[in-house]
Amino acid sequence: MVTVRGSFGRATLAAVLLLVPFAPAADPAHAASAGPRAAAGAAVTAAADWTAPLSTRGRWIVDADGDRFKLRSGNWHGASGTWNGSGNADDDASHHAGENSGRIPLGLDRAPMAEIVAGFQEIGINSVRLPFSNEMVHDSRPVTDDAVAANPVLRGKTPLQVYDAVVAELTGAGLAVILNNHTNTTRWCCGVDGNERWNASRSVQTWEDDWLFMARRYKDDKRVVGADLYNEVRRNVWDDPNWGLGDHHDWFAASQRVGDRILTEADADLLIVVEGINWTGIPVDGFAHGRPTLEPVRNLSHTLVDSGKLVYSAHFYDYTGPNHSGATGTGETTDPRYRDFGPAELIDVLNRQAFFVTAEQDRHFTAPVWISEFGAGGRSETNPKARAWFENFVDHLVRTDADFAYWPLVGWHENRTGNGWALLHWDSAGHRMGVYDGDDWRAAAWTRLTGAAGRTGPVAPVAEWSMLSPDHGDFIASRWMRVLPDWDSGARKAVCPDGQRLLGLGHTGNRGLCSDVTTGPLSAPGGGGYEVVKDERYVAPGGDWASGYTKLQCSDGQFVSGYSVRGAAVSGALCTAAPGGVITGTGGRTVWFDRGDNRGSAPKGGDFANGRYKGQCADDEYVAGVAYTGRVGSSRTPDALYCRNLH
Ligand SMILES: *[C@@H]1O[C@H](CO)[C@@H](O)[C@H](O)[C@H]1NC(C)=O
Ligand SMILES: *[C@@H]1O[C@H](CO)[C@@H](O)[C@H](O)[C@H]1NC(C)=O
Ligand SMILES: *[C@@H]1O[C@H](CO)[C@@H](O)[C@H](O)[C@H]1NC(C)=O
Ligand SMILES: *[C@@H]1O[C@H](CO)[C@@H](O)[C@H](O)[C@H]1NC(C)=O
Ligand SMILES: *[C@@H]1O[C@H](CO)[C@@H](O)[C@H](O)[C@H]1NC(C)=O
Ligand SMILES: *[C@@H]1O[C@H](CO)[C@@H](O)[C@H](O)[C@H]1NC(C)=O
Ligand SMILES: *[C@@H]1O[C@H](CO)[C@@H](O)[C@H](O)[C@H]1NC(C)=O
Ligand SMILES: *[C@@H]1O[C@H](CO)[C@@H](O)[C@H](O)[C@H]1NC(C)=O
Repeated sequence: MVTVRGSFGRATLAAVLLLVPFAPAADPAHAASAGPRAAAGAAVTAAADWTAPLSTRGRWIVDADGDRFKLRSGNWHGASGTWNGSGNADDDASHHAGENSGRIPLGLDRAPMAEIVAGFQEIGINSVRLPFSNEMVHDSRPVTDDAVAANPVLRGKTPLQVYDAVVAELTGAGLAVILNNHTNTTRWCCGVDGNERWNASRSVQTWEDDWLFMARRYKDDKRVVGADLYNEVRRNVWDDPNWGLGDHHDWFAASQRVGDRILTEADADLLIVVEGINWTGIPVDGFAHGRPTLEPVRNLSHTLVDSGKLVYSAHFYDYTGPNHSGATGTGETTDPRYRDFGPAELIDVLNRQAFFVTAEQDRHFTAPVWISEFGAGGRSETNPKARAWFENFVDHLVRTDADFAYWPLVGWHENRTGNGWALLHWDSAGHRMGVYDGDDWRAAAWTRLTGAAGRTGPVAPVAEWSMLSPDHGDFIASRWMRVLPDWDSGARKAVCPDGQRLLGLGHTGNRGLCSDVTTGPLSAPGGGGYEVVKDERYVAPGGDWASGYTKLQCSDGQFVSGYSVRGAAVSGALCTAAPGGVITGTGGRTVWFDRGDNRGSAPKGGDFANGRYKGQCADDEYVAGVAYTGRVGSSRTPDALYCRNLH
């Protein structure tokens, strides 16, 4: 979460990028007595009442039985670091809000793990986002005895071993755990601190290898359910991250790649959590600056090798805004913060930036959205706008039935004063202060959120809609085709995930749309079940469906599951043998899209080639061929699809 002040001694641009953190609990809390704990909201599913692994069906996360599993999570931070980046790291005062985690999840010096985890369950949490740093993975220095004073069994362990123990304690209690790569070095996140991008201070290779290491480490613990790939991707002084430009700052490409590697090389059961982009541009009035969050997903969404594993995520706090970095004073712009929006306006902004991903069904981007960080100062938060924002934001989480993770779960207090953001605080003597002690204004909202009715029970399978985007290189979403030899050397190849068929193509830009609509997931093709077609060998005499055009057509009984391109030009059609009985029809029709969109009257799948002409077969059809022209002046891009009925 939240920024610390960066320390780049460069020029004015650097100066404006020095961001000011929110003021931690400036104002002493009213020392209310610890009243009896109020009951923690209603209708909280017993934490162990679910079966791993998790997957997705449309916008819902479901457990192995197909029942909805809503991530009602919180962040248990600390292993990602609390050191503020200057001063002596052994000194509590040099840690964010004076809370020194000792390089491990916060609070283990004050309360036994079991008590902390029981506290989570008491307040209605069923899952935990557990941030770690890359440094933690490699840190061989044992934790200090002080850092684990309340958990002597952890003495002498490395931070990674403590993290192991925490994971085991959480999952043993029936909670789900989502691993979150939060920082490179073990320190407080997220300003200009060398952790801005996945490769800001180390190679992409290291980032990927560390992920495979972590995924494999917890592979046997099925309640470790997710890999949250990177925290708050943002600009550093000179560079913006982007979504889809194909360079080394392309977060879309990097997350797509590591997500596929985790699923194919480490653990096929994990949910892959991809956060939007937190910050781009120069936060100075007059320069472009914004927090695109998940907006780019509308035009370019991920297609992982396994459908049903992708979860998008976003973070919201009152003090940032759609164009506001959160800074106060130096580096502050005149843009509104989220807390400046009234309820109706806030809903519009939130929907545009993130919630549309769950609100709009049957789109290539439709997925669960996990708001994996949001929070508010507790007793010490006196700003009425910040309080109103929290109430409004919680109402929107309830309204949209979205998955969430509060930041943070655990904090310190002394005489009921402290950072205040946490839901549960412990003092140095081990006394707990909690959100339900009767003196915390957040309690009512928290009860609304954790007790909200929301959808429960079985979620029926839905049709998958997947985008293919071989914009800069191969985009092979089929596990099966990935391990086969190169089938069109030198071309860029795009293949639908196993179980889906091609349904749409862009006239330019090479984007494609796949789905399993009507058929449901097709079983994997049998041995030898594919053919690359680059000519008209299967166009039947008298079956010219695009006169004067070059027609790449599959043989009867095969459907187009992918394609290859050279530059913009069509190179080949990948034809896959359909499992028995799926394709019986032979008659077909031509869908032209060289002069406009031709996707039918109510096309599903969403706009998979924004700003381009595109064509799409109907839900009960499959693509049996692609036509283009080599006429002078044409760049040999797709002009027509040959659509055939499934039955
Ligand atoms: C996003 O990045 C900015 C700038 O580093 C930071 O101030 C902010 O706290 C981050 N998180 C959110 C949710 O805005
Ligand atoms: C970090 O903590 C030290 C106190 O040890 C303080 O002097 C320094 O200003 C803090 N740095 C930041 C960036 O807050
Ligand atoms: C990132 O972490 C590695 C050690 O894990 C360290 O060598 C490197 O200096 C760190 N980079 C930054 C910018 O802090
Ligand atoms: C990360 O990508 C940038 C942009 O291409 C590159 O300049 C930089 O060297 C990369 N960082 C590392 C550590 O590989
Ligand atoms: C976490 O991200 C950092 C970049 O901040 C990277 O250096 C590290 O390799 C990643 N670690 C893991 C386990 O993914
Ligand atoms: C505000 O943010 C949005 C979304 O990131 C962006 O499109 C827009 O250009 C930004 N406005 C300014 C003034 O930078
Ligand atoms: C907490 O209260 C005790 C007893 O009144 C006092 O000695 C101590 O200084 C207080 N601590 C803080 C941080 O206020
Ligand atoms: C989607 O792409 C179109 C151009 O093709 C662009 O005008 C639009 O702004 C993009 N939308 C988003 C949300 O990035």
